[in-house]
Amino acid sequence: MALPEELIEFKLRTKIVYRVGSVEELPFELGELGAKRPVIFTDRGVIEAGILDYVKKALKESDVEIAGVFDKVRQDALVSVINEAARFIKEVEGDSIVAVGGGSVMDTAKGANVLVTGGEEDIAEHVGAELVGRPMLPHVAIPTTAGTGCEVTWGAIIKNEEEQTKTGFIEWYCVADVALLDPKVTVSLPAALTAATGVDTLTHAIEAYTSPYANPLADAMTLHAIRLVSRWLRRAVEKGDDLEARAYMQFAATVAGVGFFNTMCGAVHACAHALGGMFDVPHGVANSIMLPAVMEYNRDYVDGRYRDVAEAMGVDVRGLSAGEAADAAIAAVRQLISELGLPADLKGYGIREEDLPELAVKAMEDIQMVFNPRPPEEEEIAELFRRLL
Ligand SMILES: [Fe+2]
Repeated sequence: MALPEELIEFKLRTKIVYRVGSVEELPFELGELGAKRPVIFTDRGVIEAGILDYVKKALKESDVEIAGVFDKVRQDALVSVINEAARFIKEVEGDSIVAVGGGSVMDTAKGANVLVTGGEEDIAEHVGAELVGRPMLPHVAIPTTAGTGCEVTWGAIIKNEEEQTKTGFIEWYCVADVALLDPKVTVSLPAALTAATGVDTLTHAIEAYTSPYANPLADAMTLHAIRLVSRWLRRAVEKGDDLEARAYMQFAATVAGVGFFNTMCGAVHACAHALGGMFDVPHGVANSIMLPAVMEYNRDYVDGRYRDVAEAMGVDVRGLSAGEAADAAIAAVRQLISELGLPADLKGYGIREEDLPELAVKAMEDIQMVFNPRPPEEEEIAELFRRLL
C-alpha cells in the first residue's frame, strides 16, 4: 500500500447489529435512542412475507408503542409517497422511524425524515447536500434485501414520477442510527429479487473499488464484498432458505454500502438511474444489464484494478497480463449474471432508438457519472445503450 500522502477521509455513522434473530434487539435499540412511538415503514411484499408480524412480535412485550404503519411504498422511493409519508408521521405523532424493507422503503423513510425535521413539504424540492444538516428523528433500518446498502448510506435516490427522473440528496443525519441485520428476514425474498439486489451489491463494490476516489479503507470493504457475492449469491438464489448464504449476502450488502458511499459509484449507476427514471427498469436489473458493458468501456482506465476484481471472483490470474486479467474479470461478471438468469440486454422495456439521446442526457446529468474512472462523452453513453437494445 502506498503512503497516504493524499488526504483520506472515511465516514461511518450507523451502529451495525448483526446476528440471526437480531430483530429481537429492536426494543433495546429504540430505547437507547429514546424512541417510544415509532412509525414503521414497509411495503406489501414485506407484510405478505410475514416480516412485519415478526417485527411487531419483537416489540410486543416492550414499552414501545407503534404509532402507525406506513405501507404504501412501491418500486422506488417516489416523491408523492415520501410527501405522504411525512404527513403520516406528523398525523400519528410518531417520534421515530423503523424502516423494514429494501432500498425503496429505506430511502422513502429517509426522505420523510428529512421533510419532518426540515419542516418542508415536497421532497422534489430537496435536491442537494446537507440542506437540513441537523439531527433527525431516531431511525432504525431492518433491510429485507441484500441489497442496496441503504441501511448505512446517508443519502437517498428518489424518483420524480412527473419528470421521469431519479435524483437524490445527501444528508449526514438521514442515515439509520442502527441497522439490524437479521438474515431471517431475507429468506423469503424471491429468487429473481435476490439475484437482482445481489448484483446491485456487486455493482456497488466493483464501481467503488474502481472509483477515482477509492481509498484503502473502502477497498477493504468493497473487495471483500466482491468475494462474498461471488461465493454466496448463486446459493442464495438457488436455495432461498439457506441461512448461511443469506447471512453472507446481507453482510456483503452492508459492507459494500459503507464502502461505496465513501467513494461513490460510476457510470453503471448513472445509466441505471436514467433507465429507472424513464422506463421503470428495476435498479438491480438495470445494473446487471449495464455492468459488463460499462466494465468493458472502463477496462483501460482502472489502473489494473480489474485484476483484483477477477481474483476476488475466484479467477486464477497468475500469468495473465493486465488486459487479460481485466477481460477475465468482465467474463466472470457476465458468467455470474447469466447463471443468475438476469437479462443481458434492454429488450422488453419499450426503449426505442429515438429515446437514446434523452436517456444519454439523463445518465450524463446523474451525479454518479462524475465518479466514473473514464470521463464519458454523451455519444459514448448513447452507444453503450444502443448496443444493448
Ligand atoms: Fe445501487
